Amino acid sequence: MIVEVIGSKKELENVRPFHIGHLLWGTRSIPKTYGYLGFVPDEGFCLKMVCEEKEPLRTYENFLDPVYRDSAMEAFFQFEPERGGRESSIYLNFEVNANGALLAAYGSGRTYRTYFSKEELDAFGCTAKVEEKRWSFSLCIPLRILEDVYGPLKLGRGSRFTCNFYKISESKQIEHYASCFPIRSEIPSFHVPEYFGEAWIGGCSHRDTHLLYFPHSGVNIKERNDNQEEFFMKIYKAADYKEMSRKAANIIASQVIMKPDCVLGLATGSTPIGTYERLVELYEEGDLDFSDVKTVNLDEYKGLPRTNDQSYYYFMHDNLFDKVNIDPANTNLPDGMEPDSDQECARYEDLIRSLGGVDLQLLGLGHNGHIGFNEPADAFDKETHCVDLQESTIEANKRFFASADEVPKQAYTMGIGTIMRAKKILIVVSGEDKADIVAKAFFGPVTPAVPASILQMHGNVTLVADAAALSKIPE
Ligand code: F6R
Repeated sequence: MIVEVIGSKKELENVRPFHIGHLLWGTRSIPKTYGYLGFVPDEGFCLKMVCEEKEPLRTYENFLDPVYRDSAMEAFFQFEPERGGRESSIYLNFEVNANGALLAAYGSGRTYRTYFSKEELDAFGCTAKVEEKRWSFSLCIPLRILEDVYGPLKLGRGSRFTCNFYKISESKQIEHYASCFPIRSEIPSFHVPEYFGEAWIGGCSHRDTHLLYFPHSGVNIKERNDNQEEFFMKIYKAADYKEMSRKAANIIASQVIMKPDCVLGLATGSTPIGTYERLVELYEEGDLDFSDVKTVNLDEYKGLPRTNDQSYYYFMHDNLFDKVNIDPANTNLPDGMEPDSDQECARYEDLIRSLGGVDLQLLGLGHNGHIGFNEPADAFDKETHCVDLQESTIEANKRFFASADEVPKQAYTMGIGTIMRAKKILIVVSGEDKADIVAKAFFGPVTPAVPASILQMHGNVTLVADAAALSKIPE
């Protein structure tokens, strides 16, 4: 989710709301529940959650009462300390009932938690309001309290953290559970950070993103504004597909030259084929050595053997791996033949982490703004996951397979969070048919409805596109 930057608490309800829509553990329905989260620079977060529930169960009245036995709404946050702070596994939880009784604590486990002091609880300024058809609560989380917990955080636009929000009640009369980000656990166990989703502090970002625009080979630099934000996006305009491919290959080649044992994140699709061709030429000319390079691919069809010429494994060998001196043992793709999705996704995430993360991630851009197999959605997916392919994708792919039955129905893909953790991102786009989505993704609002728009929040993105694909970007 994108946490918009606001001037003060008064603006909180102007931000895009988040919804508590994932019913959990047998819960059949909950009253409509949603919330607003905003970030006030130098002050902290403002949170309001609303539940359209009449006459909520509200027994408890005091700070630190077990409000989860009432009808309650909860918010969980985990921040990563800048440096020198305590462990990043520490998370904060705020649980509130319709009386405004606040139970708030922090710690790294469910059991051993430190409750906030009376003074800190007062500082959150928690209030609740009960109306005829709904109830809500509001609170603020001052930065100074977060930094007491974590040490310096330097939170600002582009900062990342994780969180989740819940509607719960653990009383027998109205037992229900629902979350904002999905939870894949069989038993009620939401109290752990692995079930938190990704959040970035941002907002109407293109106004604030520092875009460097290189229309001709990086000579003319046009800055869209003078805002000295920390993050910026470089846009290289190439005359045509061939030039786009050469520029992209040069960027990848410089990464390999500067760090011969780097981790490259790779993509398939038609757009990067020319880039791979050029990399092969550079290798053949003796200018590039892949012997220590490691690779991780974005995605792979589930259920398709490597020998199938439509598998991404086949594509990568055909276009790159078999033509350069890379050690096949250093190349990685999700294993499409692993039937256990949870196991395969966890293995792939662990693998990327064990390699020390991706140094440079190459991406293509789908017509609907997808990156990897991350299709337009209500929320950004955090980690590697298994996706059901959209009917239109299955239909479009039919022509590549001997029979319709062979067309994969699912795929494994890095999540948006996985992609965003890459140190550098290079996205290649070509063709007039991509002009609309380029304008939307890089100049429009950041939203999970256009997955690539999240790249505006990354600190180091280079877009290399041909003139046709850039024909609709604002001047
Ligand atoms: C491929 C991938 C996809 C493509 C996208 C664009 O690994 O992840 O997201 O990058 O579908 O495909 P092309 O380049 O064929 O237009």
